[in-house]
Amino acid sequence: MKRHAKPAQRPARPRTAQRLGRAGRPAPGGAGARAHHSERDARRSRAGARANQWLAIAPDVRLAPGVKLSKFINLYGCSIGANTKIGAFVEIQKNAAIGANCKISSHTFVCEGVTIEDGVFVGHGVVFINDSYPRAVNPDGALQTEADWKVEKTLVKAGASIGSGATILANVTIGEQSIVGAGSVVTRDVPPRAIVAGNPAKLLRFLDPPQAVGRASSPVNQRK
Ligand SMILES: CC(C)(COP(=O)(O)OP(=O)(O)OC[C@H]1O[C@@H](n2cnc3c(N)ncnc32)[C@H](O)[C@@H]1OP(=O)(O)O)[C@@H](O)C(=O)NCCC(=O)NCCS
Repeated sequence: MKRHAKPAQRPARPRTAQRLGRAGRPAPGGAGARAHHSERDARRSRAGARANQWLAIAPDVRLAPGVKLSKFINLYGCSIGANTKIGAFVEIQKNAAIGANCKISSHTFVCEGVTIEDGVFVGHGVVFINDSYPRAVNPDGALQTEADWKVEKTLVKAGASIGSGATILANVTIGEQSIVGAGSVVTRDVPPRAIVAGNPAKLLRFLDPPQAVGRASSPVNQRK
């Protein structure tokens, strides 16, 4: 007797936000995240996440209402503020906080210890760093554990923009509404409203106040 082929196994259900039960809980680290949102917004956020089959979102992630997630995203132990958009192939680690109304573009890595305030733009393929002198193993050859190194923190202030391909070294603060040029390596603090670029990133100029984020601005003779 001809045996019927075994039906293909259903793929394991991804750990999507549908099991979080947390969308709608305010996420720390952003004024927008603390704002009140309607239950309808929260429902929409949950439904959007549910529809996405290609997310890996740990149950401890806090997603505020209105968060928009692309595909192939890996989030764990972090918080994302209201209405923030996250592109494909982004990883955000534990103890990282993203504010409200941010755009995190595809292929970006946000590591533990990074705080991004409200209204921040992060370009494609931006890499944050939290260990200045990394080692895989201890002197005895054993793999290092979390106990063997200390997280170094980074702060990106409200309204800042980080260009694609930038690397942000540990222990820096990127000032409010500043702009980091594409491909820059940021090794020191960036002043508010400054435009910096290069490796290491140097000051190009300051934006004129008051200035809407994202609009063109005239130079103020700060070029080096
Ligand atoms: C830095 C940036 C904001 C331009 O700032 P700006 O003050 O208008 O700078 P200018 O274009 O007038 O260039 C000034 C100088 O900086 C250099 N420069 C500009 N951008 C640079 C960068 N990313 N890295 C290194 N040098 C850069 C220019 O070549 C120029 O050098 P020169 O004076 O020797 O000719 C822009 O070039 C940039 O990198 N934007 C980020 C875009 C991005 O990543 N978007 C992501 C979404 S697609």
